[in-house]
Amino acid sequence: MSISTELIGRHDAALIGNYGKLPVVLVRGQGSTLWDADGKEYIDFFAGFGGTVLGHCHPRLVAAITQQAQSLWQVGNQFYSEPQIRLAEHLKSKAFDGRAFFCHSGAEAAEAAIKLARISAGPDRPKIVTMKKGFHGRTMGALSATAGPAQNGFAPLVPGFVHVPFDDLDALEEVVDGTTAAVMLEPIQGEGGINEPTKGYLRAVRELCDRCGAVLIFDEVWTGVGRTGHWFGHQISGVIPDIMTLGKALGGGVPVGGILAKPRLAAFFKPGTHGCTLGGNPICANVSAAVFDVIEQENLLEYARKAGAIIRDQLGSSAVRHKIKAIRGSGLFLGVELTIPDGLPVVHHALDHGLIINATQKNILRICPSLTITHQQIEKSLAILEKAIAAV
Ligand SMILES: Cc1ncc(COP(=O)(O)O)c(C=O)c1O
Repeated sequence: MSISTELIGRHDAALIGNYGKLPVVLVRGQGSTLWDADGKEYIDFFAGFGGTVLGHCHPRLVAAITQQAQSLWQVGNQFYSEPQIRLAEHLKSKAFDGRAFFCHSGAEAAEAAIKLARISAGPDRPKIVTMKKGFHGRTMGALSATAGPAQNGFAPLVPGFVHVPFDDLDALEEVVDGTTAAVMLEPIQGEGGINEPTKGYLRAVRELCDRCGAVLIFDEVWTGVGRTGHWFGHQISGVIPDIMTLGKALGGGVPVGGILAKPRLAAFFKPGTHGCTLGGNPICANVSAAVFDVIEQENLLEYARKAGAIIRDQLGSSAVRHKIKAIRGSGLFLGVELTIPDGLPVVHHALDHGLIINATQKNILRICPSLTITHQQIEKSLAILEKAIAAV
């Protein structure tokens, strides 16, 4: 029996089966290279659902975690700690003038944003409008915001959520009114299939919110922290939200979530209204602050834009282009819609040949590698991917 088979057997006997699994046990990573328990090598073209934005074991992040682990681990949030302040200052200087709150995940960030919108709007404005094919997380509030099959079996959900089609201003105008606390959406939908809005849509949503006095929340859990070749996805359109939620890349692979809210709104979270015991934990916050330093100092926003353009050009002119319906996205946040109905065989073929990639909405492949992936690794990945697409 291989080491992997033995570990998978132990896993299945000890863990809940709530994840669809690929039959690989990963034991080591360096940059965008991963190794499994039997020594097989893979290129990571998906970065752990976007978490490892700087790859595995980036020396600056290893230094940040080590240095912090040797000085201060955890303090209750009744105290101040410096890494959390540095991290919040990064958000403020790179996004907009806001105030930050930290937690551990994207779902918790959604919960914080929903609560902040509700408490600021008051009891007469409970409605929160979100988008079909949007995704905000698995906790009950975030799940109530997430239209579709993720909700199946979990009723009753949190009341007050209304879902409209993404990128449809008329549908939004029909439901946003004086009882609306917030409109919440992703600047580019991730789980929904890397769906970009039409030019002008986000600005029109901003204007509608302003007209009706609703809070505009952008879920930047996927699009935040450099993924799109911009610090934050909203910078593509220049439309600034009132609240932005973050997760995934924010911690560079350690669990950090958070929100940045305009000061007028942030003021509604008075002591006792919201909290998170380990949120802004010094170890996580120190790594997270280092993620911003590295992206800045290694010029990775520009690299993400250039690398993304190379991937699009190469796939768009490849021998398998007749099997590709569309390539969408920004920077290294890319979706490849296939003409065939199911992308999972492509994922499995690529995995067998040493490439980790993902499919969403059945036939949309997602290419979201770390921003530190090398040109050589991109070339090798595309060669494997083209063969996998050709084979199915
Ligand atoms: C846009 C978006 N928001 C929120 C979440 C939830 O994040 P987490 O899994 O960290 O709770 C996800 C997860 O994929 C996401 O894609």
